[in-house]
This record gives sequence, structure tokens and C-alpha cells, in this order.
Amino acid sequence: MREHKIVVLKGDGIGPEIVDEALKVLDAAGEKFGFKMQYDEQLMGGCAIDATGVPLPEETVTACKAADCVFLGAVGGPKWDTQPGNNRPEAGLLGIRGALGLYANLRPATIFAPLKSASPIKDSIIGDSMDILIVRELTGGIYFGERGTSVENGVEVAYDTEKYSVPEIQRIARTAFEMAMKRNKKLTSVDKANVLDSSRLWRKTVIELSKEYPEVELSHMYVDNCAMQLVRNPKQFDVIVTSNIFGDILSDEASMISGSIGMLASASLAEGKFGLYEPIHGSAPDIAGQGIANPLATILSAAMMLRYSLDEPAAADAIEAAVNTVLTTARTPDIYEEGFKKVSTSQMGDLVAANL
Ligand code: IPM
Ligand code: MG
Repeated sequence: MREHKIVVLKGDGIGPEIVDEALKVLDAAGEKFGFKMQYDEQLMGGCAIDATGVPLPEETVTACKAADCVFLGAVGGPKWDTQPGNNRPEAGLLGIRGALGLYANLRPATIFAPLKSASPIKDSIIGDSMDILIVRELTGGIYFGERGTSVENGVEVAYDTEKYSVPEIQRIARTAFEMAMKRNKKLTSVDKANVLDSSRLWRKTVIELSKEYPEVELSHMYVDNCAMQLVRNPKQFDVIVTSNIFGDILSDEASMISGSIGMLASASLAEGKFGLYEPIHGSAPDIAGQGIANPLATILSAAMMLRYSLDEPAAADAIEAAVNTVLTTARTPDIYEEGFKKVSTSQMGDLVAANL
């Protein structure tokens, strides 16, 4: 029997409840497809601050490095808002991405056919389908750059810096070109090269690398224009590659095309097969513990994990197909429409597991 050993970081807010549903689906998939999951639960985020004083305990990093891959819910919440910046739950998330070398963040923005009417974008714009892959650089740029706060001439100032090196840009661009080769061979590199030096280096480096991928149709777009194009004509995009901060922002925007941010999964990959899988949404502390959170982004992240890190493509396909089936009848409140059965977080997990 194939065994997969993963670290599970349930995190804060709705994290534990959505992760439980994904593990339920993973176990059911294992039974059906002949593998066994082993879960090593560790602390990261606010729960780790409460238990150990820091958002990313050394023990968690060690356990992650020893596992096949890592599965995460979400971290953060108002309880930890008063922590200094470097001890917030979010610092734990950035820390683990850095510590595990997870530089390539894949965020697919697809629309499940039964959910089309839940999208705020008109049918005439979406057409029959929607399938964008955002490739976000995840361990560089302004989220990791030099920063500081001080007092200058009696006024408080703070700064953060956007800095990219050629090798950092090359490796994320390579991931994006490889992804484009497996899809519709269209790549849009998003930057702000009309203003930023770091973006000019980004663009130059992507153009240089494109010589290795003559089949991929490469274009460049400023990030402000991209934000507009995503709602004006999202079908023009196949793969988008961009920096850490731009990818953070654009992926939230793209998620709404799919109807709800509760639907979008992500994979954060290191060199090789190792990765961390998490929904792109946050910990939603306002609805935590009520059983109304949508677990589908997390369940779909489990499918990505099976595909990219665990070599279980059939199980991954089955989970995605089951989600599609379940959406034809059942909805959590965030994607609820009249005529559907309104279900709780755990009922949604049960339905996906039963439809595998
Ligand atoms: C995301 C989140 C994180 C990020 C936060 C919680 C640090 O917004 O994964 O998109 O900015 O990367
Ligand atoms: Mg974000």
C-alpha cells in the first residue's frame, strides 16, 4: 500500500474545520485508490503563538522538512493583531514559505460549470468556461525585502523594499513557461515596468528566458491594466506570472470570477516535488466555528497535493470531478443560490467524499 506522510497545519479561525473536511476527503480517496495518508499535526500561526510564543516553532519546520509535503488551513485573526509585525501569524506563513524554499505559488482560477451563475461577472464575458493559472513568486520581493521603521526629523516613517535578482526571476518564469507548455501556451508577465526598476529587470529577464520557449506566446502587461483586464476580458488569459505582491492581489481578484474566494486552491512548490497546499483565502475569524465555511478551496488544495507532490493523479481528478458533481445540488452559504440545498461545512465534506 502506498503511504504518504504529510504535515498538517490546521492554523486559526476556520482553518481547523476546513482542513478536517479535506482530510475526510483524502482518507476516502485513499480507500478508493489504494493509498494511506499519515498526518503529523503541527502548529503554525496564532495557535502556535498561543502555545509556544512564536508563530513558527522550529519543531514545525523540522517536521515539515521530514514529510512528503505540507497541508495548511489558514492563519491569523484579530486576537494576534497587537503582536509585533515579526511575531504575527502571517509572519509564520511567510517564514515557512521561506524556510521550505516554496518559491512557486500556483493559483488556478477556474470556474466550475454549475457555479457560473454565482460569478459576479456576466455570462457574456465568461462564456462557457474560465481557466486562468496565476503563477505567483512567493519567497522574494517586498514581502521579504529590507524593511524598517524609524523617526526622521520628528516624524514616524516606515519602508519596505521590492528587490528581485535575475536567478529569482528566472526560476519563477521557468515554472510559468513550463506550465504554459502544458496548457494553451500563452503567458502574460505582469509588472509595473513603466515605474519600477525591479519590474524592468523582471521584464528583461522573462524576455531573455522566452528564447528557450519559442512555442509560448509571451506578452507583458502592467499590473494596473491587468487588474482591469481580469474583469473586462478574463478569457484572454492562460498563464499569468508575476511578483509576490502583485500575485497576492491579482489572485484575490481572479478568485471572484469563480464565484467565491472559498473556491480557490493553491500549491506552493519548491524545487522538485515538495510543496505546501492551502486555500488562497484567509482564516475568516468572523465565521469560525459556525459550520458555514466553504471547505471546497481546501478540498481542491488536497487534489493539487495529490497531483503535484504525491503522484496520485487519478485521485486528484476524482476529487475535482466530485466537487463539480456536488455543486450541481449543494451549496455552502457563500455560494448559495435559490433551488440548491444549503449545506454546512461538514455536510459539504461528506458529499464530496461520497461522490468520489
Ligand atoms: C495569501 C495571503 C498571505 C500572503 C498573507 C496571509 C501573509 O494573503 O496567501 O495570499 O500575503 O501571501
Ligand atoms: Mg492573499
